[in-house]
Amino acid sequence: MSLHRLTGLTLGVPDVASAAAYYAEFGLTPLASTPEQPPHTARFATVDGGEQLRIARSDRRRLLHLGIGADDPDDLDRVAASLTRFGVEVTRTGTSVRASDPGTEVTVEVTIAERVVAHDPPAPVAYNGPGEPVRAGERAPGILREGPVRPRKLGHVVLGSTDQQTSQRFFTEGIGFRVSDEVPGLAAFMRCSTDHHNVLVQQAPVSFLHHTAWQVDDIDEIGRGAKAMLETDPERHTWGLGRHHIGSNFFWYLKDPAGNFSEYYSDLDCVVEDALWKPGVWDGAQALYSWGPPPPPSFLAPEDLAALMSGAHSA
Ligand SMILES: [Fe+2]
Repeated sequence: MSLHRLTGLTLGVPDVASAAAYYAEFGLTPLASTPEQPPHTARFATVDGGEQLRIARSDRRRLLHLGIGADDPDDLDRVAASLTRFGVEVTRTGTSVRASDPGTEVTVEVTIAERVVAHDPPAPVAYNGPGEPVRAGERAPGILREGPVRPRKLGHVVLGSTDQQTSQRFFTEGIGFRVSDEVPGLAAFMRCSTDHHNVLVQQAPVSFLHHTAWQVDDIDEIGRGAKAMLETDPERHTWGLGRHHIGSNFFWYLKDPAGNFSEYYSDLDCVVEDALWKPGVWDGAQALYSWGPPPPPSFLAPEDLAALMSGAHSA
């Protein structure tokens, strides 16, 4: 596969400062502003992905820009040609291809980028099993960790689309994503890397960003990260701890000051050989989670959806 990852995203929010404080506390590393950087924006890095989050001013919360990494210029030519065939306006520069998805209203830009390498990957955690005390005489490493949780990389985004079918085709036929699993007519889990999904588009009454997801080492890091965020503000809690059914990842969702959900996740399914993965067709309820507390209604339909809709219509 020539596409290989999400490079980063730009989050648009009404109040940049409060969102920036939230994502710093979430564990992303604030970057110093540069002379080229637009005013009133903030930039953040992950441990393995480098700069992956920009926050910019926007009248309503939304995903302004999504970056996709490709290996070489031939990939850009291929993406430009397929987007043109798909029928959207394409901006091609020497180093990028850019187009906007009509259903999610997100600007997607493919650039040539380094692949993500996990720096200093964690040692596999040994769990004591029945009759198998593999960690005999030692406390679990997960309870001994100290310091803030640091997300490794941006893993995926979930977008509401007013035209799910068209958005799915934009990402697959236009950009080159592959479908890993599907809830027909409602949602498609699509990948541009070996991760089970990098973009999930779901049918919605208005285009909006549902959540961004950030990989951490393991389930203990999910728990430690969420605990620290909730100690500051329990109202951030949205849904977790649980394990998704589609994608298998452990998850805990929190809410940023603008109303976007941010997810700590670990142990997502990987599709290394396309031929060895069989995409599934699911119904919505079964697909959502294997275990955990039931999702709150505000996860399925965020509380500001009506406000986003009226904002979109008056814009
Ligand atoms: Fe997610």
